[in-house]
Amino acid sequence: MCGIVGIVGRHAAAPLLFEALRRLEYRGYDSSGIATVVDGKLERRRAEGKLANLGDILERLPLAGETGIGHTRWATHGAPTEINAHPHIVGGVAVVHNGIIENFQELRRELIAVGHTFETQTDTEVIPQLVSHYLKADLSPEEAARKALSRLEGAFALALLFAERPDLLIVARKGSPLAIGIGDDEMFIGSDALALAPMTDRIQYLEEGDWAVLRHDGAQVFDAEGEPVERTVHRTALSGAFTGKGNHRHFMEKEIHEQPAVIGDTLRTFANPTNHRIVLPDLPFDPAGISRLSIVACGTAFYAGMVAKYWFEQIARLPVDLDIASEFRYRQPPLDANQAALFISQSGETADTLAAMRHVRKLGRRTLGIVNMAESTLQREADGHVRTLAGPEIGVASTKAFTTQLATLACLALGFAKARGVLGADDEARLSQALDEVPARAAEILQQDAAFERIAQSLTAARDVLYIGRGTAYAIALEGALKLKEISYIHAEGYAAGELKHGPIALIDDQVPVIVVAPPDPLFDKTASNLQEVVARGGKVVLLSDLEGVERLSSYAWASIALPQVDPFVAPILYALPVQLLAYHTAVLKGTDVDQPRNLAKSVTVE
Ligand code: AGP
Repeated sequence: MCGIVGIVGRHAAAPLLFEALRRLEYRGYDSSGIATVVDGKLERRRAEGKLANLGDILERLPLAGETGIGHTRWATHGAPTEINAHPHIVGGVAVVHNGIIENFQELRRELIAVGHTFETQTDTEVIPQLVSHYLKADLSPEEAARKALSRLEGAFALALLFAERPDLLIVARKGSPLAIGIGDDEMFIGSDALALAPMTDRIQYLEEGDWAVLRHDGAQVFDAEGEPVERTVHRTALSGAFTGKGNHRHFMEKEIHEQPAVIGDTLRTFANPTNHRIVLPDLPFDPAGISRLSIVACGTAFYAGMVAKYWFEQIARLPVDLDIASEFRYRQPPLDANQAALFISQSGETADTLAAMRHVRKLGRRTLGIVNMAESTLQREADGHVRTLAGPEIGVASTKAFTTQLATLACLALGFAKARGVLGADDEARLSQALDEVPARAAEILQQDAAFERIAQSLTAARDVLYIGRGTAYAIALEGALKLKEISYIHAEGYAAGELKHGPIALIDDQVPVIVVAPPDPLFDKTASNLQEVVARGGKVVLLSDLEGVERLSSYAWASIALPQVDPFVAPILYALPVQLLAYHTAVLKGTDVDQPRNLAKSVTVE
C-alpha cells in the first residue's frame, strides 16, 4: 500500500530516491517524502498529495547526501497530511514504513510513560521512537534496531536511517515485500524490483521475518531468529526504461488499447494457432487428480475468478469454490487432500490474497498463482505460477491485467478439460479457435471508442448506475460497476439480471442508467426479459450486445452498441472492453484523476 526506497550510496541520493518513488507511486500517493544524512544530521523534505508536489519542493530546496530513504504513502493511520508523511524522524533516527504496526497504541503509551513525546497520529512513529529509546540506552544502531523490531507486531517493510551513520541502512520485512538491490560499492532497497531497475538488476528478496544491515560493500541478512542467512541474488528481467503513456492522455487509456496485443501474447503461451491445440504449463498438481478447486482473489481479479468458475465447471466439469481473499480463510473452508487452490493477482503483492495462499500452503494443499508482475511474492511463494503477459499496468484501475487473466484462465479451463478427459478434439479446436480470434475482435471494439464516449456523456450526471448480466456476463456486470465507481466516483452496482426483480428494481427510474451486458449466449432471451422489466419502469437502458441482439432490442434501449459476433465462450473477455471504455470516458468527462483515483492504490499490501 505504500512504497519505500533507500540508498547507501556514493552519489547524490535524492534524485535517485525520487525516481525510484516515481516507479512506486502506483502503490499510494497520499503524500511522499525523502530524508538523507548530511554532515551528521538528518535532512528531510515532505509533501502532501502527489509525488510531483515533493518534486517541486526538491527543486526549490535540493537535498544533499549520498545515503537516504524515501516513501510514497497510502494512509492507514493518520490523515494524509505533511506532518504524517514519512520519513518520520525522532532524535537521530529516520524511518520509512509500509504496513501496519498493530500494537502501536500499547507501545505509544509505554514510551509516553517514560517521557517520549509524539508528533504524529501514525502507527509508524513508534518505530523511530523505540529505536532512539534504545540508542539512548547505549545500544548500537544494529542492537537498537534489532530490539525495536522484536517489539513490533503486525506487518512492516521498513528502512531505518541514522544521522551519525551515512554508511548504514537497517531494513526489515514482515508481511510486506522488500527487495535489496546490489550496486557497485553502493546498496539499494525498494518495495519491489521495478523501483530499483534503473540502478541495478541484481536483486535479493528478503523473506518473512528477515532483517538486514546494509553498508556500501553489501548486505548482512538475518532471519527471524537472528541467524545470518544468505538470500539468492536474482538477475531481474525488469527494464530500467519506465513505460510512458505514448500518445495517450492516461496510462489507463494506453493499457485499454494495448489489450489486443497483450491478450495475443498471453494466448500464445498456451494455444497453438496452427493446430488449435492447448498446451498446459507445468502445474503443481494434476488437473485430473483434484476433486475441487478453490479460486481466491480480490477486486477485479476476483471477477476474473468468477468467470473462470463458469468455465471450469461447465467445460472441465470441475467443481469450483470462489472466495474473496479477505473472507476466505475466516470461512475456514475444509480443503481435503485432493483439493487445490488458484490465486489470481495482477501485482502478486495483495496482502489479502497472499494471506489466503499462505493459509492453504500451511494446510498442505497445492497452490497455483496467476500473476502479472514478475518476481512478485505470489510468484515466489505459491507452489506453481502462470504469468499473464499484460506488461506493467500503471493505471490503478485494472484493464489489460483483467483480460489477460481471463485469457489465461480460458486456456487453463480447456487444458484442465482435456486432462480430465471431458473435452474432445473437435470442441478443443472450436474453442481454441474462438480464443485465437479474440485479439482481432478486441481491436474492432476499440475502433468504436467514440460511441462509448458519446454514451459516457449521459452517465456523468448519474447518481446511480446499475449493470446487469447473466452467467459470465454477470461477472462482467460486476467488473463494469467496479470500474465506473473506482475512477468516476459515481455509485454503481452490478447485479445478476435475474436478481433485479428481488429488490434492486425498486431503484429503477428515468434517472438510473442500466447497462445491460447481453452477449449472444444461451441466456440472452432471459436477459432480454429482464431488460423489458427495466424499460417498463422507465429505466434508461444501455444495451451491449451483438448486431442481432441490438436489432431485436434497440427499440427499447436508450442507447445500444453492437459488438462483434463471438462465440459465447470468449464473450466475457471481449465484453470487458466496453465497460472499461464507458468507465474511462465517464471519468475523463468528470475530470477525476483517472490513473490515480482518490483513496486507492494499485497494490493493496495491507489487510
Ligand atoms: C481493480 O480495478 C482494482 N484496482 C482492484 O480491485 C484490484 O483488482 C485488486 O486490488 C486486486 O489487485 P491484484 O490483482 O494486484 O491482487
